[in-house]
Amino acid sequence: MSILITGGAGYIGSHTVLYFRDQGEDVIVLDNLEKGHEQALLGTTFYKGSIQDEALLSQIFKKHTIEAVIHFAASSLVGESVAKPLDYYENNVLGTQKLVKQMINHDVKQIVFSSTAATYGEPKNIPIQETDPTNPTSPYGETKLAIEKLFQWCDEAYGLKSICLRYFNAAGADPQGRIGEDHTPESHLIPIVLQVALGQRKNVQIFGDDYQTKDGSCVRDYIHVIDLAAAHFLALQKLRQDPKTAIYNLGNGKGFTVKEVIETCRVVTSHPIPTVVSDRRAGDPATLIASAELAASELGWKPNYPELETIVQHAWKWHESNPTGYNKK
Ligand code: UFG
Repeated sequence: MSILITGGAGYIGSHTVLYFRDQGEDVIVLDNLEKGHEQALLGTTFYKGSIQDEALLSQIFKKHTIEAVIHFAASSLVGESVAKPLDYYENNVLGTQKLVKQMINHDVKQIVFSSTAATYGEPKNIPIQETDPTNPTSPYGETKLAIEKLFQWCDEAYGLKSICLRYFNAAGADPQGRIGEDHTPESHLIPIVLQVALGQRKNVQIFGDDYQTKDGSCVRDYIHVIDLAAAHFLALQKLRQDPKTAIYNLGNGKGFTVKEVIETCRVVTSHPIPTVVSDRRAGDPATLIASAELAASELGWKPNYPELETIVQHAWKWHESNPTGYNKK
């Protein structure tokens, strides 16, 4: 039996592929390589194509005995989604509808889904619990929430069992340095800061220092990408043993301001990392911190790399040895 991982060539997807392989699972990847990198797959069985290609999906489900799907394939930039909502509904919601249709056609009834803290929008309570209100402030968050609901209705109708994992801020890289984070253009805080340390940018812009936080910059809950990968593995074990539809937050339960992240990067890289304060970025909540107690009690998930310094060290190890990412050596 194999596990189909859609979007497995992307940042979180590729770390999950590697983790599953390291656990001895047989993995097949489907990725359109719009954002992903084939080099990150390290030779995993791979189909280049879209989740919207139903003929290809059907071919994959016929050729391989697929036990479950781990579903990452999606457009995932909050700002871009505000400018291009129709693309996000098409890629994310319609794409997932087609994937699930083919799963049901081929009697595959288990899925682990890459959801997001962006489903909550501006939080009412900190730390955020799964039962808190979901009011997304972007089409990206809306599409992920719509997919979570699609899964719930498909459980009722077809017995599809899903585990949706709402990630907070994924960061870091494979501790062994085999793969890492490479987005073009880069928009995430830690890789941007490390690009300054590599001399590729002059400074880091701090998007707003007038938030109601301890130093005025935004607070986020950074979670090691390999701890996220491990949670997908535990979610699959849960579906195997006790198949039930569920939603879990994944974070460390601890927040760091943008300024604290930059300071940690200074310590790890020994680079002064100059900063400039610029305007707030549209749609950024002041503080996002997860309560991941449910994932701890029901999945047995406990982050192995909770320290921000370790997360940055692993990211730095990869960026230092791959200063221009995957394709551009
Ligand atoms: N930031 C800066 N300067 C930069 C880049 C980011 O100050 O150059 C700030 C942002 O304003 C934010 C924090 O750093 O306060 C983290 O920003 P990221 O872009 O790294 O991450 P986000 O919190 O915006 O978003 C991430 C994922 C989303 C997901 C969200 C859920 O990228 O897909 O977490 O928490 F929806």
